[in-house]
Amino acid sequence: MDKIKKVLITSDGKKFFVRDLTKDFHCQFGFVKKANLKKKEGSTIKTNIGKQMIILKPSFIDIYRKIKRDPQIIPPKDIGLIIAETGINKNSLVVDAGAGSGALCCFLAHVVKKVVTYELREDFSKTVKQNIEFLGLKNIMLKNKDVYKGISERGVDLITLDLPEPWKVIEHARKALKTSGFLVSYSPTIPQTNDFVNKVNNTEGLMHIKTVELIQREWEVNDRKVRPMSRMIGHTGFLSFVRRVK
Ligand SMILES: C[S@@+](CC[C@H](N)C(=O)[O-])C[C@H]1O[C@@H](n2cnc3c(N)ncnc32)[C@H](O)[C@@H]1O
Repeated sequence: MDKIKKVLITSDGKKFFVRDLTKDFHCQFGFVKKANLKKKEGSTIKTNIGKQMIILKPSFIDIYRKIKRDPQIIPPKDIGLIIAETGINKNSLVVDAGAGSGALCCFLAHVVKKVVTYELREDFSKTVKQNIEFLGLKNIMLKNKDVYKGISERGVDLITLDLPEPWKVIEHARKALKTSGFLVSYSPTIPQTNDFVNKVNNTEGLMHIKTVELIQREWEVNDRKVRPMSRMIGHTGFLSFVRRVK
């Protein structure tokens, strides 16, 4: 996948991603001449049919939104809560499983020092590798391994799980985490959450802090038409926060 070089944004927020600056850029509003694509960020340019667009520099999130998706990803709202509740930072070591499409591990790698992510399936591992490369991340190690069999890292600040049977990793996670470190499990259903939390409660050294479902409601703000959007995403997943206390 070619890297995104420029973002074009219309006044109503439609975004277009330019990957090749050596050719005119074609979109639903006509085309932008290649000479215009090279103008500096903040410049307003016009397509051949007169549609105005502003040139922006692609940010991490612009590029991130274009990653390839195979299995269902964790959405940014839930990733935001994981970061906020665990306080991970540029010095943190994170272990993640299963990598899936790589959405969570790639976002975390943008924030922390190092991420090691486990993925059982070879086909998904290829997608993750592709996404790591597309985002230009150098601090992720992908292990094509079964995390139910063990975690070899030690002194870990945060372990994130998005797995069908997360309770199978609790004992491995306890050993891998440093005391005070966090374990966060993301599950779409309550039976999974229930089995996970029950096992945590029966494991010496771990403490269940809370289980949260985060609902995000977007609003339309257009002059005096200010109201919730008619459509919203109802449910994504439950996040269970656990801490190693001994
Ligand atoms: C829902 S996806 C994870 C999505 C990921 N969190 C993201 O944001 O892109 C679940 C992944 O767990 C992987 N998986 C299932 N069991 C596993 C195991 N025992 N070890 C490692 N990965 C496993 C699956 O192959 C699948 O890719």
